[in-house]
Amino acid sequence: MQLDTISVSRGGVNVSWDNGVQHFFSAFWLRDHCDDPASQDPNTRQRLVDTFAIAPDITVSNAVLDNQSRCIELHWNDDTRNTISVAQLQRAVFSERESSASEHHYWSAARVLESLPEIPYNDVLASEQGTLQWLELIERYGFALLSDTDASEQGTKALGERISPAQRTIFGAYWPLSADLSEHEDSAYTTQTLLPHTDGTYYHNAAGLQMFNCLEFDGTGGESVLVDGFAIANEMKEQCPEHFDTLCSVSVPGQYLEPGVHLYAERPVIRLNSRGELQQVSFNNYDRAPMHRNEDALDAFYQAYAEFNRRSIDQANWLKIPLRTGMALIFDNWRCMHGRMGYSGTRTFYGCYHNRADYESRLRTLRQTSGQQAL
Ligand SMILES: [Fe+2]
Repeated sequence: MQLDTISVSRGGVNVSWDNGVQHFFSAFWLRDHCDDPASQDPNTRQRLVDTFAIAPDITVSNAVLDNQSRCIELHWNDDTRNTISVAQLQRAVFSERESSASEHHYWSAARVLESLPEIPYNDVLASEQGTLQWLELIERYGFALLSDTDASEQGTKALGERISPAQRTIFGAYWPLSADLSEHEDSAYTTQTLLPHTDGTYYHNAAGLQMFNCLEFDGTGGESVLVDGFAIANEMKEQCPEHFDTLCSVSVPGQYLEPGVHLYAERPVIRLNSRGELQQVSFNNYDRAPMHRNEDALDAFYQAYAEFNRRSIDQANWLKIPLRTGMALIFDNWRCMHGRMGYSGTRTFYGCYHNRADYESRLRTLRQTSGQQAL
């Protein structure tokens, strides 16, 4: 979006963009967001201006656009001047919507994926461009498969480090996952079928991404299951909005217990951002902790929760992926639920989590360096 014209109005500045959209910026807001070196650190973009010392009655007496530097010189009513860049205005009004601007492809029984998003392991390791392609697949589809992986612990770490250091939890930073391991008494460390769920409902900062690299598989069954939680949420919003609203408003607690550990957190099954867009799905009936409400609220909750579960366990909404040695799967744990078919034999994965903010940061900076997006 490029700036078209500016004009001083009501003591602030009116800006017209070349797509016809207009924004009014008050003088107080403009002074608070000036990005000349005295107002904002040029490297870290940390604020230097003292917001709380800005005169409440500040006004703009003149505003001059310098087309060469792409900055607006602002003349204040006390005869001082500062500048704000057009980029700063763009960031304020457009960049916060960057996540919704990128196209998400939701999938379910109603919108079946024609092919699975997949990228060769070596492409991700070989270049920043390959890593960007990988993360964009995850952003778009909620998951991505990797082929021809280095099926080792080191190979898993090398892949995970392409995003950021892993998110350390009680399971460690990188962890083996196998029924032979009795280190944690969690249902994940068994051979039984695991119904779709998200991980970390008992953490305030549930992992943003989860990754499994299949080191060994010698048996039958054990397919990984994925369900697009955002697709289910969107379909519920359309088809049963009262249940959708209930799931957005009732906080559901999750907990994890083992000797010396008692993790507990709570949030609604569906969390929206400040613009009303889907931000996170949290659904793990295995780990749900006790909660109570009045009778009507509980009735509404159980009905809405059961409807979400019905769609979650509907195999028409599932992707079943047989992960075999040399394949890895990474998925958005804030969007997709995952599960596993029961199996017999030996199945060893090596996995990790990534913090949501670290993943988003990597995606932003990769886009910036590839010239896709001006930050
Ligand atoms: Fe899990």
